[in-house]
Amino acid sequence: MDTGKKIPVILDGDPGHDDAIAWTVAKASNRLDIRAVTTVGGNQTVEKTTYNARRICALLGIDAPIAKGNAFPLMSKPMTAGNFHGTSGLDGPKLPEPDRPLSGYTAVELMAKVLRESEDPVTIFSTGAQTNVAALLLTHPELKEKIGCISIMGGGIQYGNWTPAAEFNILVDPEAAQTVFQSGVPVQMCGLDVTEKALVMPEDFETIRNIGNQVSRIVAEWLDFFMIIHKEMGYEGAPLHDPNAILSYLYPEIYDIREMHVEVETAGLYTRGCTVGNYGKIANLGVLEQPNVRVVMNVNRGKFVEKLVEAVKKYDGREVKI
Ligand code: BDR
Ligand code: CA
Repeated sequence: MDTGKKIPVILDGDPGHDDAIAWTVAKASNRLDIRAVTTVGGNQTVEKTTYNARRICALLGIDAPIAKGNAFPLMSKPMTAGNFHGTSGLDGPKLPEPDRPLSGYTAVELMAKVLRESEDPVTIFSTGAQTNVAALLLTHPELKEKIGCISIMGGGIQYGNWTPAAEFNILVDPEAAQTVFQSGVPVQMCGLDVTEKALVMPEDFETIRNIGNQVSRIVAEWLDFFMIIHKEMGYEGAPLHDPNAILSYLYPEIYDIREMHVEVETAGLYTRGCTVGNYGKIANLGVLEQPNVRVVMNVNRGKFVEKLVEAVKKYDGREVKI
């Protein structure tokens, strides 16, 4: 039964072009109530991703408090991905300056506050390394029951993108990902299995640009930038990873989702950060038998683009000073 009540959510990410588009989709949804935005290092340093987060919120009209995460993963050295997202972490179109100060809370404190104060279970969308989410679970285990779902972009059951075995978000902080996956909280994982199929083609960029509102023009320019390196790598379109964490949660019917047991490799010499999933073809797996993650494996690409276009149209009439 649809009670019309919005689902309280936290956006945790390392924006990043695809994080920015994921947040565009989240803000456009009338089913989600964004209660906090928290940042993590990854696509760039946490200082840069935090500045980007504040500018994205000003652009989209997200008025939830924004808190900066820890500069360091739980146990590894920080990594960045400037080759994909540029020196700022969000190169390309000009954006508005932040319209309000950062929250005085750390990311983990803010997440805990939101969970404590919420009557309803809160969904966390994590589109960067899971450092903040893991730190929250480790320091506030009593709040686990307040989390309805952790919907992440990260991993890949069949392959990696930063190493042959590991996807970037998981590789940045494998211990954090393992903490989240084994926490007992419902986890939905959009790994490369699905996100590499969520291609947005250059002709789709034009459909988005032609919507003609301010956000549509900026989203199209983010896609233009994101496409440069992907074109060099031989992609026909931009694999828009992070919006899948939001869209697979809102529209599971356009996705192929399987229950699986997933462990994160934290020790391998060549395989650190690998998400080892029981893909259902291997018997006698012992510990890998009990499903702990809803793994999203495929998407109807046409419908994915439709949902993106629908979301961007919601910004008609919104124009901020840049
Ligand atoms: C993931 O890594 C980041 O560069 C993107 O924002 C996405 O979250 C894809 O591997
Ligand atoms: Ca990201």
